[in-house]
Amino acid sequence: MEEESSKRTAPPPPSKGLLQTPELYQYVLETSVFPREPQQLKELRDLTATHPRAMMATAPDAAQLMGLLIKLIDAKKTIEVGVFTGYSLLLTALSIPHDGKDFVRQEGNEGSYDFAYVDADKVNYWNYHERLMKLVRVGGIIAYDNTLWGGTVAIPPDSVAGSHRGGTEATIQFNKSLAADPRVDISLTPLGDGITICRRIY
Ligand SMILES: C[S@@+](CC[C@H](N)C(=O)[O-])C[C@H]1O[C@@H](n2cnc3c(N)ncnc32)[C@H](O)[C@@H]1O
Repeated sequence: MEEESSKRTAPPPPSKGLLQTPELYQYVLETSVFPREPQQLKELRDLTATHPRAMMATAPDAAQLMGLLIKLIDAKKTIEVGVFTGYSLLLTALSIPHDGKDFVRQEGNEGSYDFAYVDADKVNYWNYHERLMKLVRVGGIIAYDNTLWGGTVAIPPDSVAGSHRGGTEATIQFNKSLAADPRVDISLTPLGDGITICRRIY
């Protein structure tokens, strides 16, 4: 029965091109992401797949890592910038305890958030970083999506499509600035479209 119903659902999101082949991405999704994806998230992903800008949703493999990080640090209070259809927001809400709180706009004191996720206008990532370095507690996590921007960060600038250039330049600069920021531990993880995990040190 389960196999029957999965055949009728929308196709999984396309690979954002970071893995060696689309088949390898499909393998990752089908082997370790989709079998563990909560039903509510699956339904939202299927609905989002019918949206003309479906590519904007957080990739399920990157979202799975976020859920794990949230549980690892026992995050209760989280904040998100850039919501779209809410795949990452719902994932976060499902990963925190029942008494946890998931905010989409700033409420609360400095150092009061355990986890933050940014998936919005790329040109403002550094501004978000400075704000979140105050809002997120020491030891808390900030995750930034699209830090490989479809792989365009590593190709000659002339080859980047005009519509992508602003995002590419902003992302290259952001990645450099993060690498030079002594206030955070970082890992640029090549899942989804690239997701950089930062842990606030001080
Ligand atoms: C890539 S989508 C987020 C996808 C989301 N993580 C998901 O899984 O559904 C980016 C979103 O950020 C929003 N956005 C863009 N600029 C913003 C800003 N300055 N402040 C808040 N949201 C912004 C866009 O409207 C869009 O909904």
